[in-house]
Amino acid sequence: MSPAIRASDTPFAVDVEAGKTYWWCACGRSKSQPFCDGSHKGSEFEPIAWQAAESKQMWFCGCKGTANAPFCDGSHKKS
Ligand code: FES
Repeated sequence: MSPAIRASDTPFAVDVEAGKTYWWCACGRSKSQPFCDGSHKGSEFEPIAWQAAESKQMWFCGCKGTANAPFCDGSHKKS
């Protein structure tokens, strides 16, 4: 399995809306980071769906190395 592309060295702050579903880019190829734009097609990656329970700011992983997808867990600081 080829590794995900490191789309960013830092997470993305997003103001999410309650009830809305977000598709987090897992492959790192999307041009609409941190979300999927369909660029994973042909790779072994699939985006991860996450639904917001409340409206607030969330930090989505940009390095694609998080162990808590789709959110930043601080792993971007390790490499
Ligand atoms: S941006 Fe990926 S763990 Fe922080």
